[in-house]
Amino acid sequence: MAWITKNSAEAQIETRDEPYLTPDMEKKLREVYMPRYERPKGALFPALHMVQHHYGWIPQQAMQEIADVLEIAPSEVLDTVSFYEEYWELPKGEHLISVCRSIACEFCSATACTEAIKAKLGIDVGQTTDDGKFTLVELECLGSCGTAPVALIDDDLHENLSPARIVSMIDQVQNGTYTKGGTGAVKEDL
Ligand code: FES
Repeated sequence: MAWITKNSAEAQIETRDEPYLTPDMEKKLREVYMPRYERPKGALFPALHMVQHHYGWIPQQAMQEIADVLEIAPSEVLDTVSFYEEYWELPKGEHLISVCRSIACEFCSATACTEAIKAKLGIDVGQTTDDGKFTLVELECLGSCGTAPVALIDDDLHENLSPARIVSMIDQVQNGTYTKGGTGAVKEDL
């Protein structure tokens, strides 16, 4: 197997003057989260959640700022962020569509749903539409195998999907008629 190398030594990270870790966030990290753990590093997950919840993703500058507060190497923060797919290293669209790709859903036409979404939005898995409205990803089992295939629109779980149903829901998001809360409606509806 060939090794693929990249020149990390000369890599530049995009920075801005204003810190991502706001004074309120840093105060919460130091006064609420860090005291809960024996070592500062223990507060890494809550720190990352806090930043992602605020910005929707975790910029590299924010990783560096978190590392400074927790007194750990920035590479440790990057290792954690890049290991868990729930953490975002790039900005994502206003709405995140996550289709389960694990076996039960795959057997029940999840791939057809994904293909329908790709065709509807003109993007591939892992991409964001040009208008920044939608990002499409695939996830492993969402714990709802009995109602496969399933997908999330943002935090809403939608069960018993069909390609027509998921496309119809995207239409609803686009025209402002989408109702948050998720559905478990049966396939025969569409
Ligand atoms: S395989 Fe899709 S929810 Fe379990």
